[in-house]
Amino acid sequence: MNTIGCQMNVYDSEQIAKGLKPLHYEITASLEKADLIIVNTCAIREKAEQKVFSFLGRLAGLKRKRPDLIIGVGGCVAQQEGAKILERLPHLDLVFGTHAINRLPAAVQTIVSKKCRIVDIQMADRIKEPDFVANGCEAKHVTRFVTIMQGCDNYCTYCVVPYVRGRESSRRPENIIREIRRLVESGVREVTLLGQNVNSYGKKENLCTFVELLRRINDIDALLRIRFTTSHPKDLSQELILAFNDLHKLCRHIHLPIQSGSNRILKMMNRKYTREIYLEKIDKLRNICPRIAITTDIIVGFPGETRTDFKETLELMKTVEFDALFAFQYSDRPNAAAVRLPGKISKEEKKERLQQVLDLQDYFTTRKNKALKGSIQTVLVEGLSKKQNRVNHSDKSQRLQWSGRTSTNKIVNFFKNDDENASDEDMMGRLVNVKILKTFSHSLWGKTDSKEPTDVGLRGEKSYVT
Ligand code: 5AD
Ligand code: SF4
Repeated sequence: MNTIGCQMNVYDSEQIAKGLKPLHYEITASLEKADLIIVNTCAIREKAEQKVFSFLGRLAGLKRKRPDLIIGVGGCVAQQEGAKILERLPHLDLVFGTHAINRLPAAVQTIVSKKCRIVDIQMADRIKEPDFVANGCEAKHVTRFVTIMQGCDNYCTYCVVPYVRGRESSRRPENIIREIRRLVESGVREVTLLGQNVNSYGKKENLCTFVELLRRINDIDALLRIRFTTSHPKDLSQELILAFNDLHKLCRHIHLPIQSGSNRILKMMNRKYTREIYLEKIDKLRNICPRIAITTDIIVGFPGETRTDFKETLELMKTVEFDALFAFQYSDRPNAAAVRLPGKISKEEKKERLQQVLDLQDYFTTRKNKALKGSIQTVLVEGLSKKQNRVNHSDKSQRLQWSGRTSTNKIVNFFKNDDENASDEDMMGRLVNVKILKTFSHSLWGKTDSKEPTDVGLRGEKSYVT
C-alpha cells in the first residue's frame, strides 16, 4: 500500500488494510512481493497529482513481469479522474473513489475471479461508517488518526476537496467513541480527530456539537491526549476556544489556516473571514490559553495576488508569530472556481514568494524553539527516534534515543537520564518530563528529568499506569 497525501488518507489506508484482511491480504513493504498494490492518492495540489501519476507509471514494469498482480488506485485522484485513469494507464485494474472504500474488498474479489477491470466512483450524501473498525490496531501505536467527518461544503475557490470528497457529513458520536475506546484498549494514548472543518461537526445531522464530542472523548479512561484538525477560522467558536482551558486532555495546539493576509484575496478565495476577524480569534485563543501553539497554511500566488497583497501576508505572519506553517504555491485544480480567475502569477514569482514565507517562518520557529532551552517539557513517548531506528539497536549496551511530542506539537528527541525509573519496555505511551538541552529548527533535544515541567502548562498531564 502506498499512501500519498493528508492524514485523512492515512486513516483511509488503515481502513483499506483492515477491509482486505479477511481476504488474507497482509501489508508488505516490498512492491516486488505484493499480489495486490493499492495506491491511495491526493489531488489537493498539482504537484501531489503529478507524484501519483509518476508512481503509477513506474508500476507498469511489475505488471509486465507478473500479469496476475492487481493494481488499484483509490482516493482523491481516483475520484477526480475515474475511468480516464484506466484509459491512460492500461496496466491498472481498479479505480475506487473516496466513498468506495467499503466496497473495495468485493471489487478485489470480482477482479480475482472474473479477471475484469473495475471503476467505482459512486458518491453518497451520507458518510458510510467503516465496516471494519473492529479490532483497534494490531501494531503497537501510541498515536492514531480518527476521521469524524468527511467532505466539505465551503467551496474555497482554489480547492478541489468538495468535488473529490463530496458533501460534508459527520459520523455518529457513539461510533467515534467506540472506535477510540478500542484503539485505547490496544495501547493508543493520543488521537487526532480529522475533518475538513471540525467546527461544523454534527450540525447538519443534528448530532452533538464538536465541543460536546470532545468532552465525551476527554472522559475516556487511559486516553491521555486529544488533537484535532482542521478548524476553519470563520467557524472557530467561543465554546471551542474555552475548551482549551476546560478539557485537560486537549493539546495546546491549533492548526488554523489563514491562506492569505490580504482581505481582497481572502474574499476572492471565498474564505468568509477578514484578517481582522482572524487576528481577533488569535487574541481570544491566547487569552484563554497563553502558551497555545498556533500553526497555519498559506497559499502564495493566488490569481491576482499583487506584491502589496503578498506583503500583507508577511505582515500578518509578523503579527501572529506562528509556531510553524505549511506554505504552498497556488496551482489550478479541476472544477475549482479560481481556475477561471484572471491574473495568474508566474512560476518564478510564486517560487520567490514561497521562499520569502519559508525564510520568515524559519526565523520565528527557530526563535521559539530556542526560548525553550533549559525548560522542562512533558512529552508523550511515541517510540524510538528516527535516528535510532536507522542504527542497529540489537546492541544492548547502546543507549536508546526516544522520540515524542509536547502538548504544543513540538518534536522532542531524548535520552533517559540515569535516575529515570521507567524501563525501556515501559517507555512507549508514557508521559515523561524532559529537560531541553539543545534546540534545532524543527525539533528539540534533551534528557528526562524528575523535576516538574517549567512549561507553565495550565494543567499537569499525568501518565496512565496499568
Ligand atoms: N493550490 C495551492 N495550495 C492549495 N491548498 C489547497 N488547494 C490548493 C491549491 N489549489 C492548500 C491550502 C490548504 C492545504 C491543505 O492545501 O493551504 O489549507
Ligand atoms: Fe477546501 Fe476550503 Fe473545504 Fe478546506 S474549507 S477543504 S480549503 S473547500
